[in-house]
Amino acid sequence: MGKRQMSGFLLREEKKLRENVTLVDLVMEVLDARLPLTSRNPRFEKMLGSKKRIIVLNKTDLAEKKATGCWLNFLAEDKWPVLTFNAKKKADIKRMEKLLGSLKPRKVKFKRPYRLMVVGIPNVGKSTILNRLLQRYVARTGNIPGITRGSQWIKLRVGWDMLDTPGFLSPFLRNEQATLALGSIGSLAQGTFDEQNTAGWLIRQFLARDKTKETLFNFYKVEPKREGWFGIMEQIGEIRGCFKKGAEVDLLKTSQLILNDFQRGALAPITLEGPPQ
Ligand code: G4P
Repeated sequence: MGKRQMSGFLLREEKKLRENVTLVDLVMEVLDARLPLTSRNPRFEKMLGSKKRIIVLNKTDLAEKKATGCWLNFLAEDKWPVLTFNAKKKADIKRMEKLLGSLKPRKVKFKRPYRLMVVGIPNVGKSTILNRLLQRYVARTGNIPGITRGSQWIKLRVGWDMLDTPGFLSPFLRNEQATLALGSIGSLAQGTFDEQNTAGWLIRQFLARDKTKETLFNFYKVEPKREGWFGIMEQIGEIRGCFKKGAEVDLLKTSQLILNDFQRGALAPITLEGPPQ
């Protein structure tokens, strides 16, 4: 999708989201555990008002355990329950169901079922979580007239009706750093950001600490013979055979390879930001 097409798509999706939010009693906001603050869209806060919410810190298998613990403490200071999560782990889906079960409104002031929807920026794992929950659904409960065409409420075992399509939020590019980080975790469409700058930034994040530097070096079998991120990137290109015609390293291809390795979790664990002090 091109830049303009993508932003048009996300704006339409956000409009739809705004409408759907009014229909639900609980919103599940999915964040990337490696980038919890930057994978949030502050415009969403306004949109939600006082709507009940749970925060899911997803992809904890790709993040650093200690950092996730710090984020959990930080986010728990807010009024919403926070769940650290790995959408690929069965036990975590059970934990989520338990939490959802405990969050059902107690008073029977509702004449209709309690409703829930999943939201988040691209690539944080919304569809994976939704599909995992849907694998354990009880019944389809019908279309939603007029709002999200083709969408349905699905009755979950834990007593919530869940919208069967996730709500999309556009990534919030608050500054250059945020753009680089969001590009790294795969939340920006290809062609809408500079892959080479992004991969360079990502390498610098790994080089910043001994532990993550070791992860990077071990994975690519890089030797610290050339200093600096650019030398490392060139070396990775050489090792992985990313060449232009002749012997010149193809830096774009190398950058794409690094981003792809990172996004599929091959370079885990790393957390890309800590909670504000
Ligand atoms: P989205 O709806 O928010 O856009 O995200 P989606 O569920 O499509 O997930 C994006 C990618 O992240 C998928 O990988 C998915 O498998 C992966 N993913 C989701 N949750 C987790 C998690 O907790 N841990 C890890 N390690 N990965 C997770 P993909 O390569 O794009 O697709 P697939 O080949 O895995 O299906």
